[in-house]
Amino acid sequence: MTVQAVRQIGLSAPWIDERDEELVLEVLRSGRLSLGPVGPRFEELLAEAVGAPYCAAVSSGTAGLHLALRLAGVGEGDEVITSPYSFVASANVAIYEGATPVFADIDPRTLNLDPDAVAAAVTPRTRAIVAVDIFGYPCELDALRALCDEHGLALVEDACEALGARYKGRPLGSHGHPAVFAFYPNKQITTGEGGAVTTASADEHELLVSLRNQGRLETSSWLQHGRLGFNYRLDDLSAALGIGQLEKLGRILAGRREVADRYRELLAGVDVELPLADDADHERSWFVYVVKLPEGVDRDAVVHRLAGDGIACAPYLPSIHLQSYMRERYGFAEGLCPVSEATSARTMAIPFHARLPREDQERVAAALRSALQ
Ligand SMILES: Cc1ncc(COP(=O)(O)O)c(C=O)c1O
Repeated sequence: MTVQAVRQIGLSAPWIDERDEELVLEVLRSGRLSLGPVGPRFEELLAEAVGAPYCAAVSSGTAGLHLALRLAGVGEGDEVITSPYSFVASANVAIYEGATPVFADIDPRTLNLDPDAVAAAVTPRTRAIVAVDIFGYPCELDALRALCDEHGLALVEDACEALGARYKGRPLGSHGHPAVFAFYPNKQITTGEGGAVTTASADEHELLVSLRNQGRLETSSWLQHGRLGFNYRLDDLSAALGIGQLEKLGRILAGRREVADRYRELLAGVDVELPLADDADHERSWFVYVVKLPEGVDRDAVVHRLAGDGIACAPYLPSIHLQSYMRERYGFAEGLCPVSEATSARTMAIPFHARLPREDQERVAAALRSALQ
């Protein structure tokens, strides 16, 4: 008798179909692999999808955040306030510019920056706030915007996990300040690697386009550079994939919502805290499905147990200030952001993507229930 192997259930999966293949092949066959017509078309469609006047595609979300801090004029000696409960890039980009990342604690309900903690962290050296929409849940944009206005700070939105989310009825990306999106394969849409910055300012857009293209000016020829820039361009193969993805954005977002709703049903009665539901001001775009384990549960043992059942899970997210390089560089330690630290100790991502079959979700729910009993 043969023993049948357990089918593995991965943490995430992109939605790639024949249309994506066709669009990428078209570019490949055209011979124009960068700076062709496909990049601007992708930018147009993305701007339209989020209701932004301008959109600049870039090579990653990190590149987009870096350029957004350049727009904000962040430099040596400045401080940039951000969330500790995020991906490291939200803070790293401040360091790239010679600034110091300052972590304000999060709200235990939304897992996004707590505006009161941000207010308390403002000093005369603060230059910008990088507001993160963690797990696709919109952060408190109005309160953070008011703080920025009061203290003359720049607001940069790290919407890398939140394409399609809405704050007070309007899509993220359409609120005026620069917002950054990311398209790594676990995101709502993917371009392989890639990202984009939206803004309502023509001047900011012009600067972004120059900075991502080695500081070339609109008027300059290929080897003339008007400022110090970067190669943060998105190539046309990636942009073509992005077009295919945007064409089905509605289906992708609806699929992810359906899978999230089904988890809510299947995990009822399992001893975990589920992600916060939407309210009138906050409409999440589902990125990952993160549950909070009860206090005292050995999370590593749960992850190990589910891995044994062929189910990928991950401790998610560690607090940025407690990463080894952050501790070494700035002397950050436990106790700096207690809410973030307590959340990091208990949260775990379970398999999640737009086309996750119900039977896989049932397996995940059953395994989690049994691991916690
Ligand atoms: C909140 C957040 N910020 C920034 C990034 C960086 O994006 P990228 O990996 O495309 O550089 C990510 C990506 O994982 C993210 O989740």
